[in-house]
Amino acid sequence: MYYISVIDSIGDHHVLEYKKYEYRTLMELLVDKLFDDIGDCRGRGLCGTCHIRIYSPSSSLLFINDLEKNTLNYQLEYYLNSRLACQITVDEHIHKMNIEIIGRD
Ligand code: FES
Repeated sequence: MYYISVIDSIGDHHVLEYKKYEYRTLMELLVDKLFDDIGDCRGRGLCGTCHIRIYSPSSSLLFINDLEKNTLNYQLEYYLNSRLACQITVDEHIHKMNIEIIGRD
């Protein structure tokens, strides 16, 4: 079993367990386990409501495609460690990842 550490949009901390490919994307995992109000475009990378910050590991910040960069650029706040949760695969590479849900601006 893998896990990630999450600060949700109201500041509460959670440790969420998952199985590899149990969810198609990190956004789906967060919605299912935390009922957070994100994911308006259902993972197409267009709405920005699944905006998260990744504190570790920094390797998770790689592989941002142009669509994701573009959507993040339209957020009111955009950080060097910003990503869209809908563009992140739920596999062993996110094990022990520490994130914060920024969500809606
Ligand atoms: S769900 Fe819309 S950008 Fe991720």
